[in-house]
Amino acid sequence: MDIRLEPLVPPLSDGDVAFCVKGLHEVFASIDSWHEAGRVKPYLDKELARDDTWIFIAVSNATDERVGLLSVTRFAMPRYLGHAYEVEEMCVLPAFKGRRVATRMLELLVEMYRKDPDARKLLIRTNDTNHAARKAYGRVCETVDMISMQVFLNKLPHEAPR
Ligand SMILES: CC(C)(COP(=O)(O)OP(=O)(O)OC[C@H]1O[C@@H](n2cnc3c(N)ncnc32)[C@H](O)[C@@H]1OP(=O)(O)O)[C@@H](O)C(=O)NCCC(=O)NCCS
Repeated sequence: MDIRLEPLVPPLSDGDVAFCVKGLHEVFASIDSWHEAGRVKPYLDKELARDDTWIFIAVSNATDERVGLLSVTRFAMPRYLGHAYEVEEMCVLPAFKGRRVATRMLELLVEMYRKDPDARKLLIRTNDTNHAARKAYGRVCETVDMISMQVFLNKLPHEAPR
């Protein structure tokens, strides 16, 4: 599917926030109740005001419909005297899945960040069982033997607000 990437610029409109909620619902169903509680817009406005964090919307070039989104963050890589970009969220609306939107989003990011002379890598992670993500990401990125480790620091808002 032929798409373009459009960055969301804070402060987000109600339509922007509603689209993010719709997209992120795919990876975090409780986001609907956080949205109803008015917590999503302030969160996104605050994070997107940083100079190292973006949300890009995938827009169909044929119809101008919004079909997916991704979030990406830049961080320093001192060992390479440069920086890297990491895609965190990647979501395609159910009606548009399987039409290579995710693949194209990654290709467009790579094209864009190659123009940044200090950009060394684009990273993206998924889990073993997400076959659609593995296939889409694998068309653009190579699988490496890094092991991902983490420790949770503060409770995540997985439960709906009371
Ligand atoms: C993962 C996701 C972003 C992929 O988006 P997409 O635009 O459908 O991806 P693409 O069309 O570029 O590629 C997906 C490929 O996987 C294939 N696929 C889909 N489901 C599959 C499955 N269960 N097993 C194997 N392959 C599968 C598709 O057919 C397609 O391959 P093809 O082009 O050869 O037909 C999308 O499915 C999504 O939003 N999922 C929910 C959120 C999510 O899991 N995000 C990723 C978190 S890391």
